[in-house]
Amino acid sequence: MMSDPQARLERLTSMLRRRGVILPAFEIHGGVAGLFDFGPIGGRLRRRLNNAWLEHWAAQGDIVEIDSPTITPESVLIASGHVGEFNDHMSECNACGGVFRSDHLVEGFHSNPDVLAPKDLDQLISNNNVNCLTCGAMDWKDAQPMNLMFSTRIGTMKGGRTAYMRPETAQGMFMQFPALYRHFRNRLPFGAVQTGKGYRNEISPRQGMIRLREFNMAELEYFIDPEVESSHDFSKWVSSRFNFVPDPEFGEPLEMSPGEASTQNIIRHPTVAWFMARTWDFLVSVGIDPAKIRFRQHEGTEMAHYASDCWDAEIHGSYGWIECVGIAHRGCYDLAAHESATGDNNLRAWRPYDEPKIVDKTVLSGKGAVIGPSFRDQASAVNEALELLIDMPSKFPFELSLGNGDKVTIESEMVEEKRIQSTEHGEWFLPHVVEPAFGIDRILWHILDHAYLESEKGGEAYTVLRLSPSIAPIDVVILPLMEKDELAEMAHDIHRRICSTKNLASYYDGSGSIGRRYARADEVGVPWAVTIDHESLQNGSVTIRRRDDGKQVRIQSDDLVDTLTIGPSANLF
Ligand code: ATP
Ligand code: GLY
Repeated sequence: MMSDPQARLERLTSMLRRRGVILPAFEIHGGVAGLFDFGPIGGRLRRRLNNAWLEHWAAQGDIVEIDSPTITPESVLIASGHVGEFNDHMSECNACGGVFRSDHLVEGFHSNPDVLAPKDLDQLISNNNVNCLTCGAMDWKDAQPMNLMFSTRIGTMKGGRTAYMRPETAQGMFMQFPALYRHFRNRLPFGAVQTGKGYRNEISPRQGMIRLREFNMAELEYFIDPEVESSHDFSKWVSSRFNFVPDPEFGEPLEMSPGEASTQNIIRHPTVAWFMARTWDFLVSVGIDPAKIRFRQHEGTEMAHYASDCWDAEIHGSYGWIECVGIAHRGCYDLAAHESATGDNNLRAWRPYDEPKIVDKTVLSGKGAVIGPSFRDQASAVNEALELLIDMPSKFPFELSLGNGDKVTIESEMVEEKRIQSTEHGEWFLPHVVEPAFGIDRILWHILDHAYLESEKGGEAYTVLRLSPSIAPIDVVILPLMEKDELAEMAHDIHRRICSTKNLASYYDGSGSIGRRYARADEVGVPWAVTIDHESLQNGSVTIRRRDDGKQVRIQSDDLVDTLTIGPSANLF
């Protein structure tokens, strides 16, 4: 029974639900596929994982955190390509109306169905007699693209605007490029991170936490100058062996260090390689088994509409290999798209020349007789902004952004073209972006999956969740040997003291035998258990028990907070 993976998965899922880690949302109303709650244990686990992720990137020193709205106006997502291209293909059963992702229906018949066009999907479905997963019929409509965004309206009635719940947090970071550029004193490279909800109306959510309709994203946009050779120090990983699965067009799976993969051009851009290595560090630090991580490169037709290269960090668990992080080179796709949609030229960075250059160029110059009366006290700001225009407008009228953030409309009769010679000290260019995009829920699922250990004790099933103490939702359980007045009072006092400490969480458990209470704590991964007994009342000492081997030592209760905060010293046990 113990070794059947499906049965193990069911026991794990049922434990997570019973103990308030992850539970189906809105269950008393029938539930909704793809929506889950994090319960009293899961809520804190998710927050700790999120915090660990934020701290990991903040430590790099050139990355800051931002926070953007989840409701996004349609124009942003038209410019980013999501309205036109953020689709999956769905196949509908003619007999029962069941709808499924076409690539999932043919998973057993193609090594990577994500790359297939609709007609190839239809052909595979029909050649392999794929049955409807609901009613068993074999009667399918042609595969259709379905946009994955949830739409909504901002405002009501006629004045309302179409909007979408964001499908990624990334667009918020692109919108804030000018603020980030100012924050970093106009110097690349730099990055921004954002964690928060992402929404995708997945066609057929399945596999628990793997395919959600509302999920926790954690994304980093790192802005670089494409003309500056990136240099990264890979020495930390020289003896690490990562598993790489390149696009089959470029090579076979192999094992090597990320530095070697970068120098051998298996990973085309060093900054992509750098973020892959840092991603590996993060995953291992929060408890993912390093032997179960691999990096798979996207095939050309599999790549998102904005990416020029992409590697997924996949983790192996109860559902096989699952993408948990996508590390993409987005080039200047997004900034260029927003610049061209809005005419705003603040999405560029300045690259100084080594030597000034004399160039002949055509510029727009405001006609004094028109600009003055048209713009009055803004006239000189308009003239200045015209002088600073990087590209000639493709059509009139066009919107001109002024230095103070205002925008004005320029008609053709307001300006004239002039040929001039100017001394240029540098140029404005669109930065490129490397983006590691993490799915927190998928990572959290795999942490639980890898940490869940089943054994037998005294003829009974015994489970331990070996969570890393850095993310365990509860640091310590406080157990009075018996719920007698003085013992319980001392235990409550210690519990309150620990809870009032920043960053430590404790829970009090006074019911049942001490063995049962250890088992309850082990089941949800509490790394330490503290027992208060009669000796505690006499001399203030308590026992502290280590989850992973059950060893116990006595320490003074006054030392508990320090011991738990820094972790017990190596020679304590
Ligand atoms: P998939 O191919 O599995 O649908 P994706 O390629 O669309 O995933 P990305 O767009 O790269 O995923 O999203 C970045 C990360 O967000 C993914 O690596 C994954 O961890 C997470 N993610 C994406 N979609 C979902 C979802 N529906 N539920 C939970 N996590 C998701
Ligand atoms: N921002 C990466 C993605 O959502 O695909």
